[in-house]
Amino acid sequence: MTNSPSRPDASTSSPLADKGSSSGNGNERKLITIASGKGGVGKTWLSVTLAHSLARTGKRVLLFDGDLGLANVDIQLGLTPEQDLGAVIAGDAALDDVIARYTAADETSFDVVPGKSGSGALGNLSRAMLERIRGDLIAAAARYDRVLLDLSAGIDNAVTTLSAHKGEILVVMSPDPTSLTDAYAFIKLAVMRNPKSDIRIVVNNAENRKDGDRVYQAIKRACEGFLKISPPLAGIIRSDRRVTDAIRAQVPLLARHPQSEAAADVESLMAKLV
Ligand SMILES: Nc1ncnc2c1ncn2[C@@H]1O[C@H](COP(=O)(O)OP(=O)(O)OP(=O)(O)O)[C@@H](O)[C@H]1O
Ligand SMILES: [Mg+2]
Repeated sequence: MTNSPSRPDASTSSPLADKGSSSGNGNERKLITIASGKGGVGKTWLSVTLAHSLARTGKRVLLFDGDLGLANVDIQLGLTPEQDLGAVIAGDAALDDVIARYTAADETSFDVVPGKSGSGALGNLSRAMLERIRGDLIAAAARYDRVLLDLSAGIDNAVTTLSAHKGEILVVMSPDPTSLTDAYAFIKLAVMRNPKSDIRIVVNNAENRKDGDRVYQAIKRACEGFLKISPPLAGIIRSDRRVTDAIRAQVPLLARHPQSEAAADVESLMAKLV
C-alpha cells in the first residue's frame, strides 16, 4: 500500500536534533498558512496542489489539515489514515505519531497530518492546546523544507493561533465581490493581532490573469488606504474545470492534468515561494 502511515525516524524527531541552518526561527519560517476570509475559495485544493508541486521539485513537505470537523485533505487525496489530529487532541498520540505518508500517482510523496474527523471544531480548542500543536509543527519543521497549514475560513482562535508564525500567510480570494470584503476583514484582524504577519495574496478561480490582477489591485488599494500595508501578490490561479475533475478523482491536479492552466499557475506560485 502506498498511502500507509509512516513513522518518522525517532533519531531525527527532536527539534534539537537539527541544529545549524535550521535554528528555531529558521524552522518557524518554513510554515506557510493557507487562509481566507470567505469559505469555499479553494484553500484545501491549493494546499494539496502546492504540497504536491513542492514535493515534485524534491522538497520535503508536511501538509497539516487544520480545517474544521471535516477532514478535507484526506478526501481530496483519497487517504484513509489510521489516526488523525483527533488522537493528538485527545492526548492519545503525539503529532509525529499521526503523520501519514501520501504517494501520488506520479510517485511523488509528501507527509500529511490528517485532520480531525468527526464532531467538534478546532476553533473550540483551548489556546494552550492550539499553541502546543503550533509548537509541534515548528518542531516537526526541522525535518522538512516546508510545512503547509490548511486552515478553516475566517478568523477564529484556531486560525489566529496556528497562523501566528514567521512564515508566509497566503490569503486566498476569489473574484466574487464578497470575497474582497471578507479578505479585507481577515487581513485587518490578522495584522491587528500580529503587525509582522507576512501576508500574501492569492487570487483563485480567476477568469484570466487580467481579471485576477483587477481583484489583487482592489485588495491592495484597500490595504494601503486603511491599513498602511501593501501585501504582495503570491499568484493568480485561473478557473479551470480540470480542478473539479481532479478533486472528483481524488488525484492531485499535477498528476492528473499536469498541462492544465491551473497547474501551470500553481507551479509559478510555488516557484516564487521557494
Ligand atoms: N482554480 C479553480 N478552478 C475551478 N474550480 C476550482 C478552482 N479552485 C477551487 N475550485 C473549486 O472550488 C471548490 C472548493 O474548493 P476547496 O474545498 O479547496 O475550498 P476551501 O476554501 O478549502 O473551502 P472551505 O472554506 O469549505 O474549507 C472545489 O471543489 C473546486 O471544485
Ligand atoms: Mg477547505
